[in-house]
Amino acid sequence: MTGPDHPAAFYDRLLDSARRLSFDLREAEVDAADQDRYGMSPEWSPLFGTPSWTDLTESARKHLTRCEASHFLGVAIWLEVALQIVLLRRVHNVDPTRADVKFLFNECADENLHSLMFAEAIERLGTGHYRLDRSMVLAGWLFRTFAWDEIAYAIVLAGEEVFDVMQRDWMRDDRVADTVRRTSYVHVVEESRHMSFARQKIRDHLVRVSRPRRFVGTIVIAIGAHVIAKGMINKRIYRSVGLDWSTVRAEISRNEHHRMMFRRAASPLVAFLDREKLLNGPARWIYRKSHLL
Ligand SMILES: [Fe+2]
Ligand SMILES: [Fe+2]
Repeated sequence: MTGPDHPAAFYDRLLDSARRLSFDLREAEVDAADQDRYGMSPEWSPLFGTPSWTDLTESARKHLTRCEASHFLGVAIWLEVALQIVLLRRVHNVDPTRADVKFLFNECADENLHSLMFAEAIERLGTGHYRLDRSMVLAGWLFRTFAWDEIAYAIVLAGEEVFDVMQRDWMRDDRVADTVRRTSYVHVVEESRHMSFARQKIRDHLVRVSRPRRFVGTIVIAIGAHVIAKGMINKRIYRSVGLDWSTVRAEISRNEHHRMMFRRAASPLVAFLDREKLLNGPARWIYRKSHLL
């Protein structure tokens, strides 16, 4: 017996492709030069190209991107923990030998190691963890408590797709700290099967949903993606490096380069949602507000 509509062979193939790749960063040596590298490709800084960015010295820019990368990884951990709560809850009482359930167990094992790896990376970047905004904490609680099938998988997919695009840049960029490049590489490889799984699960669930449920789902998914995109910009980062938050906020919201990068990060997600008829007028408006469209 397998997941609702899909043959066990699909999930078995995904499970076969799962080879333990995640590693414990504590085992990896870091050279001293790593401390003098960017935390991520500078073009991914929401502040890149703004007057505040131009005023920073090269070393201050490196430090800022280390802070921003730490926070992005903190958001990734927040998502990885939330998705496990939501998805494990849904399979608590089902047959654990189902191919899709076995794959989910494997996915959660991956996510735990990612969270450990990212937490180690945050420590190595030397910036500490940035506390999340209260609105994000509330959104996380709503998601953990109420998200249903296609919503849960689509919001998980939104986070995974955005990180995939960013981390593909970071892992190839020799300006970026080795710690971040290595974790990005592992994450990109392992998340590709998670994304296949999420896309398939969304399709399986959509087969049966009514038009009103699809309409509500489309809006909730857009709100979820909005929370993730907005949550990546945290005032505590900019204050911690001595910048004025109201100036930074205004510059980021006018920053065409930042919008272009976020649109690029979201384009595979948006293309998928469009194909699956999970984009409508109100949802497009929300994606535009989040600079994801
Ligand atoms: Fe992950
Ligand atoms: Fe994942």
